[in-house]
Amino acid sequence: MIFSVRPVERICVVGAGNMGHQIALSAALAGYRVKCTDVSREVLERADQFADSYLADRVARGKLAEEAARSARANILFTRDLNEAAGDADLVIEAVLENLELKIQIFRQLDEICPPHAILATNSSYIVSSRIAGATGRPEKVCNMHFFNPALVMKLVEVVKGPHTAGETAEAVRAVAEKMGKIPVVLQKEIYGFLVNRIVSAVRREALYLLDMGIASHEDIDSAVVHALGHPMGPFRLLDLVGIDLAYDISMGLYRETGDPADKPSPALVERYVRGEWGKKKGKGFYDYRAPDRPAG
Ligand code: 3HC
Repeated sequence: MIFSVRPVERICVVGAGNMGHQIALSAALAGYRVKCTDVSREVLERADQFADSYLADRVARGKLAEEAARSARANILFTRDLNEAAGDADLVIEAVLENLELKIQIFRQLDEICPPHAILATNSSYIVSSRIAGATGRPEKVCNMHFFNPALVMKLVEVVKGPHTAGETAEAVRAVAEKMGKIPVVLQKEIYGFLVNRIVSAVRREALYLLDMGIASHEDIDSAVVHALGHPMGPFRLLDLVGIDLAYDISMGLYRETGDPADKPSPALVERYVRGEWGKKKGKGFYDYRAPDRPAG
């Protein structure tokens, strides 16, 4: 279908959690008018406070001009009201929990609330947009736009075209990522886990296997990956950063998709998932963040 896409000026980010608040702030820093929404008052307040402290810290460290910080702050509004957040958006980036039913419900609402020209993108780590696009009357304007954690720092953005996604939609989303100072890559076809999570999962699976076999401690496996391969952090430190709950969900999703027992979450992952040790956000995962010098067992 041929249609023209309006230039994106207003962005709505749905979900102010781990990823959403940093995606919203990145967009505000790039000059977009951003409204960030969440159902949780507490999560929104935390995101609002983070915006203040992050910008102030960057100004204090000479990384950002005061005027740029002021204008980024003025560009971003946090609100619990989805109608207010999405009613005038040119692009919506959904960044809620990895729950297909929840995403479908949100996209159905967004389709009613947003102007007809608006593009609806999901930041899902692994759910392809063809699972969601059918909930809208505008599947040609739906795609994946996948950021990495921490989104203010990580440069890559995966733009994934589904069979329903118009070329103009992918191009508009790619251009937004570029304006945000990111390095976009466009996947021409959908695949579970996209590029990066497939590669990360391969490394993670091997690291967990080595740990489960008792070959080495998680600290030593991390050290090997950092000091021999030059990764900025090892797979266990990274698991703690992105969330063990998310990694568990990704593994279970993949296992459901393939039926291959090798894709099941490993015992070391399941143990921590069940104990609620979901990584940095919970104070403990593979490492203990409540006592930074003491690694968790
Ligand atoms: N939020 C915002 N900024 C942060 C941050 C955070 N959580 N953590 C670090 N930073 C910033 C720092 O302020 C600093 O900025 P500056 O250079 O402008 O002063 C810069 O990042 C470097 O930070 P540090 O010097 O404190 O620490 P490091 O050099 O170790 O960098 C890191 C931290 C950027 C997290 C780095 O370790 C890294 O790149 N780790 C790998 C992260 C990664 O692989 N992410 C992808 C995960 S997979 C994923 O996201 C998939 C998704 O589907 C879940």
